[in-house]
Formats: sequence, C-alpha cells, structure tokens
Amino acid sequence: MMLHIPEVLTKEQVGAVRALIDAGQWVDGNVTSGPQAALAKRNAQLAETDPKAREAREAVLAALERSLLFVAAALPLKVFPPLFNRYEGGQTFGNHIDNSVRRNRAGDLNVRTDLSCTLFLSEPTDYEGGELIVEDTYGGHSVKLPAGDMILYPASSLHRVEPVTRGARTASFFWVQSMVRDDGARALLFDLDIAVQRLAGELGQGHAQVVALTGIYHNLLRRWAET
Ligand code: NI
Repeated sequence: MMLHIPEVLTKEQVGAVRALIDAGQWVDGNVTSGPQAALAKRNAQLAETDPKAREAREAVLAALERSLLFVAAALPLKVFPPLFNRYEGGQTFGNHIDNSVRRNRAGDLNVRTDLSCTLFLSEPTDYEGGELIVEDTYGGHSVKLPAGDMILYPASSLHRVEPVTRGARTASFFWVQSMVRDDGARALLFDLDIAVQRLAGELGQGHAQVVALTGIYHNLLRRWAET
C-alpha cells in the first residue's frame, strides 16, 4: 500500500527543520548505502553525527507520533532514526530496493524495513525533476509532494529518484518496522480502521455495531501483531 500523508509537518515546522539541516554538515550520500545501491546513488546526505541532525530527527519523530494517519497506516513498532538527503545539479538515485534490515550507528537498534518513508522538505516549485518513482504491479507511480507531506510505501518496492535538473530537493527518509509485517494484512487493517471510524462518525462511538467492528479490528491486530 502506498499512502500520501499530508501535513506531517506544518510549513513553520518545515522551516525550522530546514534551518537546522541547511546549516549542517553534508557528506556523500553513499555513507549509508550497500555496494549495489552505491552504484546508482548520487546525492548528498546530512552527516548523522551532526548535532543539528539529532535535533532535526527528533522534530520529525515527534511529528510522526502526532500523526494519527501515520500510526494507523504503519502500525509502527520501530522507526529508524530519520536521515536527510539533498539532490541538485542532475543528481539522481537509480532503481533499487532498500536494504531489508538497517542497524543504527550506535548498533543498538535493528529495524526490519517493512515500510519506506519520504518526508518532503522542499516545495515542488523549488526544483525540476526529483520525482520519486515507485514501481508496483500496476506500473510506476510518480510522487512529488508539498513540503511537510510524506509518502509511505512498501520497502519491498523497486523505486528511484529522477534527476534534479534545477534547484534542490531536500527530504527526510527513513524506514519503519511495523507490528504487522505483511503489507496485505496491514492494508486490510487500515481499511477496516478507516471504515469503522467513518461509521462511528455517523452512528456514534457507542453504537453496538461500531463496538463490534472495533472489537474485530483489535482481534485481527492481536492475531497478526508482533511486539
Ligand atoms: Ni531507496
């Protein structure tokens, strides 16, 4: 399932994160790549050790916790500390699938990458190109979102970032290990959750059928969740 999550960060929060990271130390994006990805990847990445990066990561993580849509869709168990990248001057990232397990720098966190996330930190008018193209069985999906919006997609997908031919594209990217590993099961839970919430809006939270369906949601989650 691919999901667009609008306004994870407000424009003011985007400005605050950009002020932090733009003043930080940027290095070659291949510091976090495996050898195959390194062949395809041409971009810059904010050094993880930069104190500004820590502050920016915390701002993104706090925003994720506040996003009901993110929590409902991702059912997060672990979130990899967000990273920041920038493409400019024709930089690109060719087709690849993200590594299956990521370990943080400190070595005390392993995240199975069920979901990949890109949080856009540049406005689409700030650059030409730079679309995230995610391939699935229906073909390629082109994603270029307003600053503060995020796309969530299965980390098992082949994807790429088109060359940025004007301006600069800055984003945060990271991975989520979900409580529900299977993308189909997670998508089903999300659809049920949304439908029950809408029904609760019409009938009231205490309606007997709303209570019954909420129970079914939790019993499915109990069946499938790893914690
Ligand atoms: Ni990737």
